[in-house]
Amino acid sequence: MSSTADSAQRSWDDEDGRRWAADADRRDRVLAPVAEALLSAARLGPGQRVLDIGCGCGATTLQAAEQVLPDGMVAGIDVSAPMLEVARARLAASGLSNVRFVHADAQSHTVPGLFDVAISRFGTMFFTDPAAAFSTLAAGMRPGARLVLATWQPLAANQWLIVPGAALLRYGTMPALGEGPGMFAQADPAVVEQVLAGAGFVQARFADVRLPLTLGADLEEAVDYLAQSGPGRAVLATVPAHERDAALSEVRTALTDHADQAGVHLDAAIWLITATRP
Ligand SMILES: C[S@@+](CC[C@H](N)C(=O)[O-])C[C@H]1O[C@@H](n2cnc3c(N)ncnc32)[C@H](O)[C@@H]1O
Repeated sequence: MSSTADSAQRSWDDEDGRRWAADADRRDRVLAPVAEALLSAARLGPGQRVLDIGCGCGATTLQAAEQVLPDGMVAGIDVSAPMLEVARARLAASGLSNVRFVHADAQSHTVPGLFDVAISRFGTMFFTDPAAAFSTLAAGMRPGARLVLATWQPLAANQWLIVPGAALLRYGTMPALGEGPGMFAQADPAVVEQVLAGAGFVQARFADVRLPLTLGADLEEAVDYLAQSGPGRAVLATVPAHERDAALSEVRTALTDHADQAGVHLDAAIWLITATRP
């Protein structure tokens, strides 16, 4: 892996990556509507060369690979060895032969291939140097290539975080979100537009997409999913141990109104960002 990897990247290559990898199938089930929206915006077709940035366990990489058959190819780049291990196992089981995974830092490593489209589901928000990262990405795309990113809108727009969060915050506190790499680092279109323009991308568009996420088949599963999510773990870490069960029970109650026979559903708000490399 690139020697420029810093602590944020090392965490994905270590603890954060192992945690995500261990729960990959469930996370991909919950985030399936985001993959669908992303790939629909990417408008992939036969013969295209696609880069999946921060591809993680490879769900969107493999879906993209199906869409560019018979003669297109997809490369997935990620800093996380544990997540790429899952991606490679999924690739082996898929029977696809037009995919390669690269273990490297997308901020500094240009994957050879002059890509037609670069996609990412939540894989570009953890860059410690977004300006350098998008310049590196632009260098690996052919003129006219399209960038298609899914990023989170601000916390306050995401019902799936606000509803359980309000219940949890009766027991714990919200750590400061701050600036810098993280889940909401690309929540402000003005900031992202400036970074993309600085890297040479043009025609940046931000589609406001609202999606229902099914957080679990039932209340227990949904509470467990939220407790394992980044924001859930951050608030739970501030809850005194003797109040943890009560806090989770409060979350369960808050989710009751959002449960039906098919599971527990809350709305998510994402940006689908598209831009062109001239
Ligand atoms: C929230 S996960 C999303 C994973 C995957 N795209 C998905 O939707 O399941 C963020 C991913 O970005 C990767 N990542 C973070 N910084 C990166 C970097 N500088 N270069 C490449 N990948 C990076 C992480 O290792 C992780 O796989």
